[in-house]
Amino acid sequence: MIENTKVITCGPPIMIKYTIQSLLKLGFADKDIITTLEMKMQCGLGKCGRCNIGSTYVCKDGPVFTNEQLKSLPDEF
Ligand code: FES
Repeated sequence: MIENTKVITCGPPIMIKYTIQSLLKLGFADKDIITTLEMKMQCGLGKCGRCNIGSTYVCKDGPVFTNEQLKSLPDEF
């Protein structure tokens, strides 16, 4: 059943962190766990530079990412 299931999480960052850890323990693949980093955004237009994680702009490249994508980002968030 897990093979055909995607999980979408949202909420406070600390809750998302522990939810993802639990989902991985349950056997979900990184590509099937989807979450948001919108809490890092300010202008939402790619102008202020407040949301970048490495060369990725959350407002322009997201704000929705799979856990697989998050793992490819620097550990800044
Ligand atoms: S929120 Fe301002 S650049 Fe992304």
